Amino acid sequence: MLNKHSVLEKNSILMLIFTVITISIGGIIEIVPLFRMETTIEPVKGVRPYTPLELAGYNIYLREGCYNCHSQQIRPLRDEVERYGHYSLAAESMYDHPFQWGSKRTGPDLARVGGKYSDLWHVQHMVRPQDVVPESIMPGYAHMANRGADIQNIGKDMEALRMVGVPYTDEQIANAYRDAITQATNDGEGLDGLIERYGDKVNARDFDGNSNTTELDALIAYLQVLGTMAELKDYQHDGEKRSGQ
Ligand code: HEC
Repeated sequence: MLNKHSVLEKNSILMLIFTVITISIGGIIEIVPLFRMETTIEPVKGVRPYTPLELAGYNIYLREGCYNCHSQQIRPLRDEVERYGHYSLAAESMYDHPFQWGSKRTGPDLARVGGKYSDLWHVQHMVRPQDVVPESIMPGYAHMANRGADIQNIGKDMEALRMVGVPYTDEQIANAYRDAITQATNDGEGLDGLIERYGDKVNARDFDGNSNTTELDALIAYLQVLGTMAELKDYQHDGEKRSGQ
């Protein structure tokens, strides 16, 4: 056996061929099951596609490059979980195209920033971060307070997302503009429809305290839902129990 092996070791082409064969076997074993599985992401209760207004906020997040300073992925390490909350689950970003995990944390992780601060805090923070966090190096985005959110054609974005697998229904797409206005103004009439389409946990209110549907409304609606959709009780980590033992 060892003798035969020396043939391989002395012939580089033969060695190369056998190396490729060996690596391919490992690769096939890893990759083939992924094609045969219905889905590689474990579904989590509560995770739904973004509402039209949240989606407009997500678009602003991309446009402004917030991902250059913020990640949206809490790793399952103790320091991260204690600082930011439950580690991120794959299902929580399954409707993000492209996903916003990020690779740089000049600012904190935002995966669970939803509900952490009031809307007013976000308004002040986005307009001039130093008003609420004096040492902040985050730039201000005051222009968003006066610009109308780009929601007229948000249904088209939803159609595009549907093509890559986000399960928006025809009804959700047809009502996109109206739902966006309803969510940013909390007007009684459209509210039933919005809740019917996106669930009763949806945040509907005037996020920026200004009756126009501005970019700030959209961005804050997006920030306030981050990390709040998944019902995590089934996934509670038992870290506390363990550390008490
Ligand atoms: C140049 C880097 C930089 C950019 C770009 C940036 N941020 Fe920040 N951000 C920071 C830093 C640093 C902090 C921490 C200090 C503070 O709270 O202002 C922060 C804090 C935050 C917080 C509070 C997080 C918490 O848990 O306290 C939010 C929300 C936030 N940023 C949202 C955004 C959004 C939305 C954008 C894009 C419109 C953005 N940031 C762009 C650097 C940045």
